Amino acid sequence: MNIKVVNTINQTRNEIATARQQGKSIALVPTMGALHDGHLSLIQQAKKLCDYVAVSIFVNPTQFGPNEDLDKYPRTLDNDINLCESERADLILAPSSKEIYPTANFTWVNVDKLTKTLCGSTRDGHFQGVCTVVAKLFNIFMPDKAFFGQKDAQQLAVIRQMASDLNFPIDIIGCPIIREPDGLAMSSRNRYLSGEQRTQALVINKALQLGQKLFAGGMIKSQDIINKLSKMIQQQPLAKIDYISIVDKDLMHELDTIDRPALLALAVYIGNTRLIDNIVLDPKD
Ligand code: PAJ
Repeated sequence: MNIKVVNTINQTRNEIATARQQGKSIALVPTMGALHDGHLSLIQQAKKLCDYVAVSIFVNPTQFGPNEDLDKYPRTLDNDINLCESERADLILAPSSKEIYPTANFTWVNVDKLTKTLCGSTRDGHFQGVCTVVAKLFNIFMPDKAFFGQKDAQQLAVIRQMASDLNFPIDIIGCPIIREPDGLAMSSRNRYLSGEQRTQALVINKALQLGQKLFAGGMIKSQDIINKLSKMIQQQPLAKIDYISIVDKDLMHELDTIDRPALLALAVYIGNTRLIDNIVLDPKD
């Protein structure tokens, strides 16, 4: 096996130092594991842009709320290692929680404003956990470039802002959403879905498509679009809307009228499984 799998920060720093001595540029792909083609697309993009690709696999406890799915979050490390190996990644860090949080954590990274809407409004403390762990990973790997999916569009915007505000000398690279052939955005949480739930989950992408169609047809009032989408989703008995929102694409504040590049984003519970998806609506398109 060519890929190196390590569990500690020290080993990681040593591996990265060796790659640096060889003059290699370093990519980091942060993940929580249970890898699928969405994650693999980030590794593929990283391979294109950097010489050495590191993947972190860590189910970060601090980004889960008390009633969320931390305990049952899928953990499939052996399979993840095989997938990273077949994508020719160079290094995996799969640390324990104690390695990342050896003592009670007193230092937190909070990004203001951008975290007030969407998932930030319904998942209290989520982005504080995400930003803190990503800042730790940036300091551990010190990559040239770090890769994040547009699937988590708010996370991508928040991390861009954090990297800029805190002067991390790291290019943040956004990558497109990878979908199943029927349109469902790939997610580690899709494996929670039963057959019937999986079918009803298709309404999420269908609603986004409808949103795009309405916008292309001249509907620019956010509330009008949101009302139509709500109606469509409510027709699925297993679906419960967490939020549907239209926000500024970069700053994430809500827009009454789509007069600039916007993100139509939604979170929907299908049974107990919370799924998110989004699409960009751009008046210039
Ligand atoms: P996780 O949900 O494992 O996602 C890891 C990365 O894969 C994220 O950047 C996410 O946007 C991307 N991703 C997931 N599904 C995707 C899809 N269908 N298409 C394209 N990219 C996709 O996001 C996290 O982990 C965590 O919050 C993390 C950043 C690792 C911090 O703990």
